[in-house]
Amino acid sequence: MATRTQSKSRTSSQSGTTARSAAGNKSMSSSRPAQKTSSSSSRSRSSKSQNEDMPNSKFHQLFLDLLKDIYWAEKALVKALGKMQKAATSEELADAIATHQEQTREHVSRLEQVFEFVGQTAKAKKCPAMEGLIAEGQEVIDDTEEDSAVRDAGIIICSQKIEHYEIASYGSLRTLAGKMGHEDAARLLDQTLSEEKETDALLTQLAESSVNEEAAAE
Ligand SMILES: [Fe+2]
Repeated sequence: MATRTQSKSRTSSQSGTTARSAAGNKSMSSSRPAQKTSSSSSRSRSSKSQNEDMPNSKFHQLFLDLLKDIYWAEKALVKALGKMQKAATSEELADAIATHQEQTREHVSRLEQVFEFVGQTAKAKKCPAMEGLIAEGQEVIDDTEEDSAVRDAGIIICSQKIEHYEIASYGSLRTLAGKMGHEDAARLLDQTLSEEKETDALLTQLAESSVNEEAAAE
């Protein structure tokens, strides 16, 4: 309940150009008569386009870049989770990964909606961080014995690193979306953020309740 109040007084006072540039020309060095720089109003470009031209702003561009990054990451994850699930030893872990794979598919389509909400076509941009995290997961599988609890412990650790990356990404995206007034997008991003956090907590619980102990005993 209770949606966050977002009234952060979005400066809509863009009207009057205060551009009475008194700005004393500091470099009056040479004798050349300070050439009249056309109309002084061009000076006041600073605060103007920041709010009203938001869709074209650099801030918005940053948001879109992050969105493309996580879109690539989620799509890559759908595949990677399939491999991790097959490699997992305990049924509990395999089930948890399978559930998260389903959620991840949903995350992909939610991101497509977010792109839509901000008037963009969904586009992925390679995410080197996720690529590395997935490679790490594969390495753990390669380096551990099949049917071992140690392998499960390793898979959990890699999965949590992945979740933490996603949590950081969705947290930032949600905040940026809210800041720009994309409330619908922010809500969807927040929903995914909650699911990533739940998955992270579930993995911790799995590790602490059984996997780590079994792995230590192997
Ligand atoms: Fe996800």
